Amino acid sequence: MSHIHPKTTPIYQTSVFTFEDLDALEQYFDEPGQSYMYTRYQNPNTDELAQEISELEQGAGAMVTSSGTSALLAAVLTLCKAGDHVLYAEEIYGGSSSLLVQELSRMGLEVSAVPTVDTYTLDKYVQPNTRLLLAETMSNPLLQVLDTQRLAAETKRHNIRLVIDNTFATPILTKPLVLGADIVIHSITKYLSGHSDVTAGVVVCGQADDLERVRKVVKIYGLNLSPFEGWLAARGLKTLRLRMKQHSSNALILAKYLQDHPKVERVWYPGLADHPQHELAKRQGQGMFGGMMSFRIKDEVAAVNRFMQALEHIPFAPSLAGVTTSVSHPLGTSHRSLSAEEQQKLGITVGVIRLSVGIEEPEELIADLEQALEQV
Ligand SMILES: Cc1ncc(COP(=O)(O)O)c(C=O)c1O
Repeated sequence: MSHIHPKTTPIYQTSVFTFEDLDALEQYFDEPGQSYMYTRYQNPNTDELAQEISELEQGAGAMVTSSGTSALLAAVLTLCKAGDHVLYAEEIYGGSSSLLVQELSRMGLEVSAVPTVDTYTLDKYVQPNTRLLLAETMSNPLLQVLDTQRLAAETKRHNIRLVIDNTFATPILTKPLVLGADIVIHSITKYLSGHSDVTAGVVVCGQADDLERVRKVVKIYGLNLSPFEGWLAARGLKTLRLRMKQHSSNALILAKYLQDHPKVERVWYPGLADHPQHELAKRQGQGMFGGMMSFRIKDEVAAVNRFMQALEHIPFAPSLAGVTTSVSHPLGTSHRSLSAEEQQKLGITVGVIRLSVGIEEPEELIADLEQALEQV
């Protein structure tokens, strides 16, 4: 069928690839990347997705995985063994801290949180067995922005690796590898795929030897992504740049609107001039601030319920970064597994609503928020 030349890559929905004979099998091993054997090892659709994300992040290469969570697992398994120590910036996605604290610690990993104020001076936290620091470019859900360049200088000073979860910022705003990070991970489920129809993750490496190790971990632990989800994500990725521009400009309009609203007590959005890291966010985000924000209304379950019930076009959906706007509730979903004390410390109270701003016309979104806030 050599006369068929598809413009887009077809879906290689196959678990295995065939070989003509033993010579072809030997060629597979002798010339890596030239042919395929088994989809758990590699597949053209997931390879294409990985390569495109790696180019956007300016990495040495990438491996995609079955979720953002398995991308974090692959990154940690790549860099650590039992007995090693992992640091994480305390304001990260609750599922990421749960993986480290509740599960990987059972496998012999030592894990400690670094308070946000201390992330640039790690002397008190680094131990002889510390291997890495995990941080998010923009934290979930309260949008603390970390200076990746400063983090990289500090982790290099201590000879530990820097792993950045770049899910909220995306490479359109920030390229952590260029700023000195060693490994970037994403929940592709969010902006990279962009349409709330894929669950996937990626590990992007700054160095080729890390990539080889990630490849091995994904293969041996079976953390791979399916071809169809890889194909869907690659399709979504084509519009990432356009979407991020619109998410960012819509979010800035909505943040200003919410900030002035009498029923809203506080707004967390790096694009607002009074956000504590506004200047850093502007510099690190190419003048864009992304589509995620949080705001606080009255700290009462009934008030939050009235607000959510009154929203006509904006659903309550415990995820983020799709083309259509949604709200979520960090206390009840993403940060549910934290202790009450940790939730309190991070400022995640019942009235905190996370808003994932889509690419609709901003006037439509404001109209829906306006009538729902009246019910608070
Ligand atoms: C910042 C961040 N990292 C990682 C994840 C985990 O991704 P996934 O749900 O694809 O496993 C999430 C999920 O919400 C997230 O918000």
